[in-house]
Amino acid sequence: MKKKIIVTGGAGYIGSHTVVELFNAGFEPVIVDNFSNADKSVVARINEITGSNIELHEGDCCDEVFLKGVIEAEGAVDGFIHFAAYKAVGESVKKPLDYYRNNFDSLLTVLKAMMEYSIPHFVFSSSCTVYGQAAVLPVTEETPVQKQESPYGNTKKVCEEMINDAVNSGAKLKCISLRYFNPIGAHASAKIGELPLGVPQNLVPFITQAAAGIRRQLTVFGNDYDTPDGTCIRDYIHVVDLAKAHVKSLEYLGSRKADNFYDVFNVGTGKGNSVLEVIKAFEKASGQKLIYRIGPRRTGDIVQIYGNVNKANKLLDWKTEMTLEDSLRDAWEWQKGLGRS
Ligand code: NAD
Ligand code: UD1
Repeated sequence: MKKKIIVTGGAGYIGSHTVVELFNAGFEPVIVDNFSNADKSVVARINEITGSNIELHEGDCCDEVFLKGVIEAEGAVDGFIHFAAYKAVGESVKKPLDYYRNNFDSLLTVLKAMMEYSIPHFVFSSSCTVYGQAAVLPVTEETPVQKQESPYGNTKKVCEEMINDAVNSGAKLKCISLRYFNPIGAHASAKIGELPLGVPQNLVPFITQAAAGIRRQLTVFGNDYDTPDGTCIRDYIHVVDLAKAHVKSLEYLGSRKADNFYDVFNVGTGKGNSVLEVIKAFEKASGQKLIYRIGPRRTGDIVQIYGNVNKANKLLDWKTEMTLEDSLRDAWEWQKGLGRS
C-alpha cells in the first residue's frame, strides 16, 4: 500500500514540486493549504502533471480541529512534510507577531496532532538563514547557528529547537529539518513554479520578470563586496532537486530502527555563484540580454553563503542533478508560460 503523506503548504512553490516528486516516487501525497500564498489553480496543474487526482483539504493548519479532521478523514497517515509558513524576510520585520503566530502555531499544531495520532515521520522546511554570515565556508551542519536578524529567521531557528525538544521528550517521532539554500527554477513542464506577489524581492523571479519586460531593469545590490567579482554569493538549487530531498528524507526516516530520531541536513548544490554569474548564466540559458545596473548594497544582505552537502549525499543518498543553467532555463520557461496564461 502507498504511504500517505500530508503536505502542509502543498500548493506553494516548494510544496507543489514536492507533491509531484512524492507521487512519482510511489507515495500518496495529500495537500493541506489555506491558499494564503498560493493560487487554487496550482492543484489542477499538479493533477495535470501527475495524471492523478491529489487529495486537497483547504484550511489552516494552525486550526487543531480542522487538522485532526483531516487526519481522521485520511485514515492511516505515515508522515507530514511541513511547508506551511510565512516566508518573506522583509515583511516579517514589519509584522513579527503574524510571523511568530503562523510559523509557530502551525508547527505546534502539526506536531501535537502527529503525537496524538501516532504518526511517525516528519520533515520540516528550515533555511540556511540559521547560519547567518558564517566565518568559514562552505557551512556544514556543525557550523554554529547564529542569533537571527529577522523574525522570519528566528522562527526557523526556534522551530528547529521545538522539534528537537519534542523528540528529546521521548515522543515517538522521527524528524528531519532540511536547511534549504536558495531554491530557484520550476518544473520542466512549466505548469508549476514560483508565483511572487507584487515586485519580486528575490533575484531569479526579478531577473525573469525583467527579461519579460514586466520590470524595467534589474538592480544588482552592490559590487563592492569582498568576493571575486564584488557581488554577493549564494548557493542556488533547482526546486525539483530540493523536492527530491524530501522524498529521500522520508525514505531515510522509514529505514531508522529507533522510533525516536532527529537530524538536520543542508540541502544545496555545494557551490556558490555570484549575482553577476547568475546574470550571465541566465543570458546563456534563455538567449535573452538582461538590462541591469549596479546599485547600493541591500540592508541585511550577507556577503556569501554556500553549503557543504556531503551529509545529505551520504546519509540520504541524495544529490543534485540540475545545473544553474538548467534552473534558469526552467525559470524562464515558467515565466514565459505565465505571460501566456
Ligand atoms: P510558499 O509561500 O510558496 O508556500 C507556503 C504555502 O503554505 C503556501 O501555499 C501558503 O498558502 C501555505 N500556508 C501558509 N500558512 C499556512 C497555514 N497556516 N495553513 C495552511 N497553509 C498555509 O513558500 P515556499 O517558498 O514554497 O516555502 C515553503 C517553506 O520553505 C516555508 O516554510 C519557507 O519558510 C521555507 N523556505 C523557503 C525558502 C525559499 O527560498 N522559498 C528558503 C528556505 C526555507
Ligand atoms: C533571502 C532571505 C533568505 C531566504 C531567501 C529565499 C534575506 C536577508 N534573506 O535570501 O532568508 O531564505 O531570500 O527566500 O532577505 N539581488 C540583487 N538584486 C535583486 C534581488 C537580489 O542583486 O533585485 C541579490 C541579493 O543582494 C543577493 C542575491 O541576489 O545577493 C540573492 O538574493 P535573494 O534571492 O533575495 O536571496 P537571499 O538574499 O539569499
